[in-house]
Amino acid sequence: MPLSIGQPQTTSFAKRAFHVFKAWMKQPTQVATICPSSPFLMENIADRDCVRNASSVVELGPGAGGTTLALLAQMRPDGRLLAIEKTDAFREALDDIADPRFTPHIGDATDLITLLEQHQFGRPDVIVSGVPFSAIPPAVAKNLVQAIHQVLKPGGEFIAYQVRSDVERFARPLFGPAETEKIAINIPPLTVFTWRKIQSPSMTRDIA
Ligand SMILES: C[S@@+](CC[C@H](N)C(=O)[O-])C[C@H]1O[C@@H](n2cnc3c(N)ncnc32)[C@H](O)[C@@H]1O
Repeated sequence: MPLSIGQPQTTSFAKRAFHVFKAWMKQPTQVATICPSSPFLMENIADRDCVRNASSVVELGPGAGGTTLALLAQMRPDGRLLAIEKTDAFREALDDIADPRFTPHIGDATDLITLLEQHQFGRPDVIVSGVPFSAIPPAVAKNLVQAIHQVLKPGGEFIAYQVRSDVERFARPLFGPAETEKIAINIPPLTVFTWRKIQSPSMTRDIA
């Protein structure tokens, strides 16, 4: 199902663009974009069966919330979305998203396991990440991908939209090869990587 333009959008594109530009001026490497995600990227990430069927989704690096709204538009009425954003400048934009399914958290994605416990979130069905894996130290990136793999439900999906392909290097040993799709109409153009976790439930630590 394509994204419905009629869905309530609590934050306009112009307002999100303002938040993104302001945040990028202060922390360009961390924010990693000067423009909110395009509708093509939002649709690619959210218009998926794994999102529609998920009871819980975690978003890492929601920024001003464009991808967040796209995910919420597709998710079940009883689904839950926890979004973890490091840049405090996005707090207001995320707080503007008035949806009972949504929990914003200003913090570091690298604390994923602790934050899931703190929010009593259990294991997510889907993890979406805009966190720029190429801009964080390799050891930290490796640990983050390991945490993502550890907490995802077996059969769950990890979706990462990235300008560079560094994430593949960290994810391949755990998840195997990715499905990739280029999104040319986005500033900057990027690639969406998708992995499905194939693992016996007994091999993952129970964090719920
Ligand atoms: C490409 S932008 C996300 C764009 C956004 N989803 C949108 O729809 O416009 C990447 C985001 O990751 C955030 N980020 C970077 N490092 C992070 C970290 N360690 N933990 C959480 N968020 C992080 C940045 O602040 C930025 O908001």
